[in-house]
Parts: sequence; C-alpha cells; structure tokens
Amino acid sequence: MTKIKYHLIQTEMAWPSDRSAAQKFLKICAVCGILLLMLAYSWPIRFTNDPTPSSIRAGWTGTRYDYFNATVDETTLTTDDISSTMQFRSLTNPNETLGPNILDNYFVYTSHCRMPAINPFARDALRIFENSTYSPCDSKKDLISIHYNDEDRRYRLHMNEANIKCCYKKILRYGNGAEADNKFKLWSCKYFQQDFMLPQDVDAIITECRRVKDKKLLQQDAFSFVQPAQHVGNRTNKIASNISQSTTTDGRPSVLLWGIDSMSRMNFQRTMPQMHKYLRGENWHELRGYNKMGDNTFPNLMAILAGFNNSRSMSICRPTAVAGLDDCPLLWKAYRQLGYITAYAEDWGRFSTFNYNKKGFVKPPTDYYPRPFVLSIEKELKKELVSKVPYCVGRRHYAEYIYDYAIQFTKVHKNESTFGMFWTNSFSHNNFSLPSSMDVKMLEYMHALQRGGTFEKSIVIFFSDHGMRFGKLRNLHSGFLEERMPIFYIWIPNWFRIKYPAFVHSLQLNRNRLTSPYDIHATLRHILELETPLADLPRPEGCPKCHSIFYEVAESRDCTDAGIAEHWCTCHTLKNSSRTEIHIKEIAQQLIAATNAYLVTNNLTDICQTLNLSNIESVQRKITSKPKEFESYLVRYEAKPENALFEASTDWDNKTQLISINVPDISRLDAYSELSKCVDDSIAKKFCICFDFLQPNR
Ligand SMILES: *[C@@H]1O[C@H](CO)[C@@H](O)[C@H](O)[C@H]1NC(C)=O
Ligand SMILES: *[C@@H]1O[C@H](CO)[C@@H](O)[C@H](O)[C@H]1NC(C)=O
Ligand SMILES: *[C@@H]1O[C@H](CO)[C@@H](O)[C@H](O)[C@H]1NC(C)=O
Ligand SMILES: *[C@@H]1O[C@H](CO)[C@@H](O)[C@H](O)[C@H]1NC(C)=O
Ligand SMILES: *[C@@H]1O[C@H](CO)[C@@H](O)[C@H](O)[C@H]1NC(C)=O
Ligand SMILES: *[C@@H]1O[C@H](CO)[C@@H](O)[C@H](O)[C@H]1NC(C)=O
Ligand SMILES: *[C@@H]1O[C@H](CO)[C@@H](O)[C@H](O)[C@H]1NC(C)=O
Ligand SMILES: *[C@@H]1O[C@H](CO)[C@@H](O)[C@H](O)[C@H]1NC(C)=O
Ligand SMILES: *[C@@H]1O[C@H](CO)[C@@H](O)[C@H](O)[C@H]1NC(C)=O
Ligand SMILES: *[C@@H]1O[C@H](CO)[C@@H](O)[C@H](O)[C@H]1NC(C)=O
Ligand SMILES: *[C@@H]1O[C@H](CO)[C@@H](O)[C@H](O)[C@H]1NC(C)=O
Ligand SMILES: *[C@@H]1O[C@H](CO)[C@@H](O)[C@H](O)[C@H]1NC(C)=O
Repeated sequence: MTKIKYHLIQTEMAWPSDRSAAQKFLKICAVCGILLLMLAYSWPIRFTNDPTPSSIRAGWTGTRYDYFNATVDETTLTTDDISSTMQFRSLTNPNETLGPNILDNYFVYTSHCRMPAINPFARDALRIFENSTYSPCDSKKDLISIHYNDEDRRYRLHMNEANIKCCYKKILRYGNGAEADNKFKLWSCKYFQQDFMLPQDVDAIITECRRVKDKKLLQQDAFSFVQPAQHVGNRTNKIASNISQSTTTDGRPSVLLWGIDSMSRMNFQRTMPQMHKYLRGENWHELRGYNKMGDNTFPNLMAILAGFNNSRSMSICRPTAVAGLDDCPLLWKAYRQLGYITAYAEDWGRFSTFNYNKKGFVKPPTDYYPRPFVLSIEKELKKELVSKVPYCVGRRHYAEYIYDYAIQFTKVHKNESTFGMFWTNSFSHNNFSLPSSMDVKMLEYMHALQRGGTFEKSIVIFFSDHGMRFGKLRNLHSGFLEERMPIFYIWIPNWFRIKYPAFVHSLQLNRNRLTSPYDIHATLRHILELETPLADLPRPEGCPKCHSIFYEVAESRDCTDAGIAEHWCTCHTLKNSSRTEIHIKEIAQQLIAATNAYLVTNNLTDICQTLNLSNIESVQRKITSKPKEFESYLVRYEAKPENALFEASTDWDNKTQLISINVPDISRLDAYSELSKCVDDSIAKKFCICFDFLQPNR
C-alpha cells in the first residue's frame, strides 16, 4: 500500500451553531472515517514516545474523533507530530471536546504537559492485585435500629427483639488544650424503653443489649447522630432556606466532599469497577489531569482547604502547636460565615489528617465533628485489622461509620445549605487491593445520596489526595505515576448546569488539562461567589495562576503554573536509560551522600545508620517539552543496611557533574515503620534506619 496524505479539515468548522457547515463536515468526515478505519486495521501505527508503544486501537478512526486541523501522514504519525494546539471535537456531540484516541494513551496531551495514561490492568499490577468482595463485619441481626423522624427532627432508639434490655453510653468530647482532640468521655450505661426519644444533646453512643433472663451481653453497637437542634435554630438564613425551594434562584449549591485516601485513577478503575462505571454513566465530570502537589495527605488537603503550599501550611496553621489549626483559615469557615452548616468526619483516629504527628483542633472545626465518636469506637469496640489498619470496628467497617454519618448529615440538613467533608483511610491506605471489598458498598452509598436528593442540590466531589505511596504497587515500574495521580470527579446538579452552561463547558475542556489541588481550592471559593468574574475571584496563595475549574485551564499550563513541584510532576515522558552509565552511578552516590548529610545536619547519626549505595534498580530520563539546562533523571536505588529502597527525581548538571536535590523530596518505597521507630519526624523516618531496630521488645 502506498502512503496516503489526508487534508483534514479545520476544527473550527465543526464547532458551532453553523449548521450547514457542520453537516457538510459530517459528510466529508464520514468518508475520511472509513478510509482511516481501513488504515487503522491494516497498519499498526506507533507513537514513538508512548511508554508502551502499541498499535492505535480501531476506535481511533471511528465515528467520534477523526479530524484535526493539519496535514499528517498517518503512517508515520508520532506523538510529536500531533501538536498540542490542535483541537479535537467529537462528531456525535460537537460540545464534547475530548481528544482523539491520543487521549487513550495520555491523560493530558498539551504543549507543556504529556501525562501518560497507564493501563490499570497491566499484567504486573494484576499479578499482585488480590481481588475481594464485600462481606459484613457482623452478620448477626441488629438488636437496635435508629429511626429519625423528619417532622419533629428527633431520633428514636428501637429494640428489634423482645426479652432484651438495652442501655446506651453517651460519648462526649473531653479534654483540653493539647488533649482536646484525643480524649473522650463515656457516661455510664443508661437503660431505655422501647422507641426511646434520644435527648438532643446526645450525638454519639455505644449501646449494649442483654438478655433479660440472665443479663448475658448479646450485642454491643455504636451510633452517631446529626442532631439538628444543635446547629440549625439560630443560623438558618435566607440563602439556606431558599435553596431547597428553588434551586435555580439566587441559591448557592451545597458542597459534599467525599474522599478516599491513597486512590489513584488507575487503582480506582482496577479495584472499584462498579463505582467507576457508575460515575461515568451518571455523567460526573472527571479531571484526568489531576496531579498531587505534595507528598502525603496533609499538604494536598491543605492546598484544597486553605490554598497554601506546605511550608505556609506549617507556618500559618502551625499544626504541631496546640490550637494552631484552630486559627487556620480553612475553607469551611468561609462557608459557615455564609450560613452553611458544616461537617467534617474521618476514620482512623491516630492517623487522621490533622492529628497524625499533629495536634488537631482544640475547638471543633466544624458544626458537626464526630471525632470523639471515632476515638471511642476504636478504643471500646472489638477491631479486626487488615494490613495493620482497623478495617472492622465493632459490627461495621470503619469507613461505614463515616459514610453513614455523611448520609445522615445530608438528609437531616436537606433544607439547609451544607458543606461536608468525609474522609476515609481504613480500607485504602495500607493495602491497594482492599478497596475492591468496598466497591459495591460504596455504590449503595451513592444510591442513598441519590434517594436523599443530594444530587439535586449539591456539588459533590469524589476524590483522593494521592495514590499508593509505598508497597508492592508503588514498587512497580509504574509506581511513580500511581503515586501522583489521585482520582477527581465532580458532580454538578441540574439546576446549576442550566444556570451556568459555560462552567460546565469549561469542565469538559478541563477534563484533559493539567490541574492541581489549588484549582479545587479556587473552585470552592468560586462557589461562594458565582457571579464574580474570573479576574476578581480570589486566587490560592500557593498557586497564583491556579483558578476555578469552572473556567478553562490554559492549554499552555505546566507544572510550575499549577503549583506542582518538579518532583511530583507527571507531565514528562519517562524513557528508560542504562543503569550502567558512569554518570548514573555518580548520581546515585551523590543522592546517598546528600541523604547522609541530611542525617548529620539533623543530628541523627547517633541513632540512625549511615547509608551506603548497594544497587541501582532503574533509571529513567525525563523528556520535557521545554529545553532545559540540566538533564533530569528518576533514579530508583537501594542502600544498605536493610536494602532500603529509594526513588529520587533529580537534575544533573553535565558541566559541574553535580546533582540538585531537596532531600525531603526523596521517596522511600519499602515499608519502614519498624526500622525507623527511633525517630518521630515523618521526613527523618524515611531516611533513618535505627541502630537498634532489631533489639527485641522495642
Ligand atoms: C489549529 O487551529 C488552531 C485554531 O485556529 C490554531 O491556534 C492552531 O495553531 C492550529 N494548529 C496547527 C497545528 O495548525
Ligand atoms: C451543546 O451545547 C448547547 C449550549 O451550550 C446546547 O444547547 C446543546 O443542546 C448542546 N448539544 C448537545 C448535543 O449536547
Ligand atoms: C474483581 O472481582 C469482581 C467481582 O467478582 C469482578 O467484577 C472484577 O472484574 C474483578 N476484578 C479484576 C481486576 O479481576
Ligand atoms: C442560639 O441562640 C441562643 C440564644 O441566643 C443561644 O443560647 C444558643 O446557644 C444558640 N445556639 C447555637 C447552636 O448557637
Ligand atoms: C427566596 O427566593 C425568592 C425568589 O425566588 C425571593 O422572592 C424570596 O424573597 C426569597 N426568600 C427569602 C427568605 O430570602
Ligand atoms: C424540607 O422542606 C420541605 C418543605 O419545604 C418539608 O416538607 C420537609 O419536611 C423538609 N425536610 C426536612 C428534612 O426538614
Ligand atoms: C490486602 O487486601 C486483600 C483483599 O483485597 C487481602 O486478600 C490481602 O490479604 C491484604 N493484604 C495484606 C498484606 O493484608
Ligand atoms: C510557599 O508560598 C510562599 C508564599 O506564597 C512562598 O513565598 C514560598 O516560596 C512557597 N514555598 C515553596 C516551597 O514553594
Ligand atoms: C523500562 O524498564 C522497566 C524495568 O526497569 C520495564 O518494566 C519497562 O518495560 C521498560 N520500558 C520500556 C519502554 O522499555
Ligand atoms: C545531638 O543529639 C545529642 C543527643 O542525641 C545531644 O546531646 C546534642 O546536644 C545534640 N546536638 C545538637 C547540635 O542538637
Ligand atoms: C560503603 O561500602 C563500601 C564497600 O563495602 C565501603 O568501602 C565504604 O566505606 C562504605 N561507605 C560508607 C559511607 O559506609
Ligand atoms: C555531557 O558532557 C560530556 C562531556 O563533558 C559529553 O561528552 C556528553 O555528550 C554530555 N552529555 C550530554 C547528554 O549532554
């Protein structure tokens, strides 16, 4: 066959209101489509920069995306030939601006960002994936059920069996200063009658049911309540009361943030296929170019909630000082000021975002804050650990307590404006396979939200902070990307779509643009003043170029523009390089030297061992679209003792033969909690192999 040149048509012709042009266009494209389809079937076309070169799938030339504004020889098409300025539009829906199937291989394909889309079902990942299904923590019948009455807005406790006696222990927030977020108080167990109306000051209880005849303990359980009387009376305001009546008037939407820790786009598809299908089917908007901005949960959530970079989060919000976080300008405060009812709940007490190596809040940060409940169930009820995290607590999965609370919150305050953040760690943080056990259950929660009318009035964000940061999945070749690409989906209610079509159009464009947590901060600010033009909207301090995702993100955006440090940036193409080249060895040696110097500077050498390079596992060179003075490498290497596994992205200056590295940014890939018990600092832990970790009983 000979090479065929196609003169494809200007994209702009297809867009729009000009119907005759569009029709003409459709005809021409039908012809092109058939020709291209034949081509695609007869030739494997290769993208040279593709990390996993593959023939383009047949769909590439199908009926949907098959034209762009350039003349290209299809047979020799490479990714570099497809200029990022080309715009692709769907034929079946001219409003849809998804790319051609280049976007099967890239999440983002713009002039300064080539973010590869890796296959969630790649063989190496599936080999280590342990699929599981939901099973209840306790299949015995509930002895107590909770009934909430919409009319009097009161909770009642119902006993499901005769011949039992049940009592409840009220759980209270207790403790001051540094201990305010760590202590709770449990009252003595109070027996109650059938259909007992719970006092309005009780918002969390542990219950015990006994057999009447011999007082044998039959069941322990725990419940939390969203008591409306505690926060509604005085604060229901105009905005709030009007939203429910007419969602297309001056109302602002409610906001629900539903977060799962450590969930990448790939792992979401891999472990939660039902949820993935649901979100796509229901037309949620995805940000496929969402890139984390910092290492772990705290910086990434702070970028969303405060708009600060990590150093500013630490200096302004002083999370390690008592009451530091109380004075922090977290977003829910702004919502509260406008009359929203606010809630925040998270599982896994010690490792919660604001409590792990941090002091938490002295005063509850939101109207509803069930931390005492979370602490008490973890302490008082029986626990089943999976991968060292409490997975079942009492009769339920730990995460279910958080989701049940979220459902109650949205239901009880259906008629008010609400801002809620609900975050779970327990089934995703330590074991990348385990979310598969919650897939179907999560879908049930989505249906519960639907039944409760949440999707009619609220913007709902289903998201994560980052991907797996350690363990088997992280150790795969694709681990670098797994770690950096959290899921992000946003639901827009119908009335909002109708009122702000341009915002929705921007969301479609932004699906395949580079975005960061700072953009989400800007978006959540934007929701508070939807009529303010872009130029006048507040910008996140940590990223002045970031803005609401209801406006188009610039095609030319790079990681710097998005507030993402080089180390976390996934916009580069990575190319395998030889491990044996002389300068690679030098780079790895210098990385070890820099790490040892860090231990010296931090006065850790008397408890932490000096590291010594033992193996270079892999080296990848970063291909950037901008010319750079330095070469950039991603190096994975092992050090003795204990064969600690590290990964660093570093620049190499060929002239001076020196690397540049910010040591705290070096990743540690193997599990190190047992080896690093002698230090507290979360950064030092990555680099410290304690001298005495082997001593028994430590
Ligand atoms: C495609 O068209 C757009 C809009 O006219 C233009 O900005 C862009 O430079 C064009 N791209 C190429 C590769 O010609
Ligand atoms: C495209 O968008 C316009 C307004 O933005 C809307 O009226 C039209 O129905 C949309 N077309 C499709 C096919 O969705
Ligand atoms: C995991 O199991 C579920 C339910 O049996 C199945 O639908 C899904 O395809 C499995 N996932 C993988 C990656 O095999
Ligand atoms: C509501 O107002 C009353 C009287 O002003 C006050 O005593 C009460 O504490 C307020 N409740 C809340 C939840 O702010
Ligand atoms: C609710 O909205 C309507 C307009 O739809 C307005 O006339 C009315 O004053 C609002 N009510 C309150 C309490 O603000
Ligand atoms: C919400 O308001 C509607 C009517 O305005 C009322 O029928 C309903 O009971 C209210 N729901 C709640 C949970 O307050
Ligand atoms: C991780 O979770 C899976 C269930 O998806 C389970 O089979 C496996 O044992 C867990 N791994 C560890 C180390 O606990
Ligand atoms: C963090 O933000 C502050 C103020 O916006 C800025 O001065 C500082 O350079 C930033 N730090 C980093 C590491 O980007
Ligand atoms: C790069 O090297 C890794 C192993 O280090 C391998 O798994 C991967 O397939 C290689 N990629 C390419 C494109 O050769
Ligand atoms: C280093 O640590 C030792 C004990 O661990 C302490 O005695 C010494 O004062 C520290 N030095 C500095 C400079 O902090
Ligand atoms: C690293 O190991 C080599 C060979 O075992 C040894 O010569 C060297 O002194 C060690 N370096 C450090 C910093 O311990
Ligand atoms: C690095 O410098 C050496 C000589 O100093 C040169 O031979 C080599 O080509 C340079 N490498 C690159 C990638 O520029």
